[in-house]
Amino acid sequence: MGRLLSTRRRHPLAAIAVLVAVLFTAGGAYAALAPTTSQNVQAASSTQIDEGRQLFAIGCSSCHGLNGEGQINDNGDVLGPSLIGVGAAAVDFQVGTGRMPLAAPSAQAERKPVSYSQDQIDAMAAFVASLAPGPDVPDEEYLDTSQGNVARGGELFRTNCSQCHNTTGQGGALTMGQFAPNLTGVEPRHIYEAMITGPQAMPVFNDQTVTPEDKRDIIAFLESVQNEPDPGGLAIGRAGPVAEGLWAWLVGIGLLIGMATWIVTRSSKA
Ligand code: HEC
Ligand code: HEC
Repeated sequence: MGRLLSTRRRHPLAAIAVLVAVLFTAGGAYAALAPTTSQNVQAASSTQIDEGRQLFAIGCSSCHGLNGEGQINDNGDVLGPSLIGVGAAAVDFQVGTGRMPLAAPSAQAERKPVSYSQDQIDAMAAFVASLAPGPDVPDEEYLDTSQGNVARGGELFRTNCSQCHNTTGQGGALTMGQFAPNLTGVEPRHIYEAMITGPQAMPVFNDQTVTPEDKRDIIAFLESVQNEPDPGGLAIGRAGPVAEGLWAWLVGIGLLIGMATWIVTRSSKA
């Protein structure tokens, strides 16, 4: 059922459907009617949406506009992109990992301590979801890793994710000052939401390419990797994605340079 719905959402006609839906949203009428059509959509009450609208006006509208339409400053720089159609999942991911509210413009919004309670995040997510349909927060069923297949998850991870996040999710640098973060300790719901919303340089893995069951397998794999003892015997502090990624780069490259120098000095002596 959930799959059928999400298949429709990605249909080419979905864009038109979204447009039509947006037209009907005027006055929040859509929000009042929609939740009954899908078991997947959290029953967002109008009071919750109102609370979300208020929180959003205070904390987010300076960059994203009062109605999530996005903001551009006088120089034509985008202060915040439009959030129409990004869905509850994007808000839950961005605010739930502390990326939003963005403190200052940078190459990449980074994880920070979370500034809102889960209730407040839910309210803002409900508000943004009321603007236009978009990916919803995942069903508990797909976060229950005890039902996941770790071996399959590992295969899927190596095919779809490891080119950026490394074979065990340790992360790595990308171009233009961006990086794919270390996935250690990321909550299952945020892993799922990253896949369906594709933050920044990360692609969206829709339910046709990677089914909800596949996503659960991937999450189960990441969980099992974390619970393994450190193969090299060193946890390098597990200080978080940035420190750890940087450490890996510095030490890795330093070691390579050291080895190269050593080989050169040895061969020149011979
Ligand atoms: C200082 C400006 C600023 C503030 C304040 C801010 N944002 Fe953002 N937001 C941005 C920018 C810039 C991006 C795009 C950056 C990126 O992709 O990493 C973004 C991206 C997002 C996205 C991802 C959109 C997508 O396409 O997936 C969401 C969701 C979001 N913001 C929600 C919020 C919410 C909710 C708040 C308030 C709690 C908030 N933002 C506050 C600037 C801001
Ligand atoms: C093209 C490179 C790329 C691929 C492929 C990719 N990601 Fe990402 N991923 C990123 C980047 C870049 C970010 C950081 C985005 C941001 O901070 O806004 C990210 C962020 C994440 C996060 C958030 C981590 C955190 O610290 O909150 C998760 C979880 C994640 N990715 C999981 C996955 C999974 C699972 C796959 C495979 C299905 C995958 N990614 C494939 C580039 C990639």
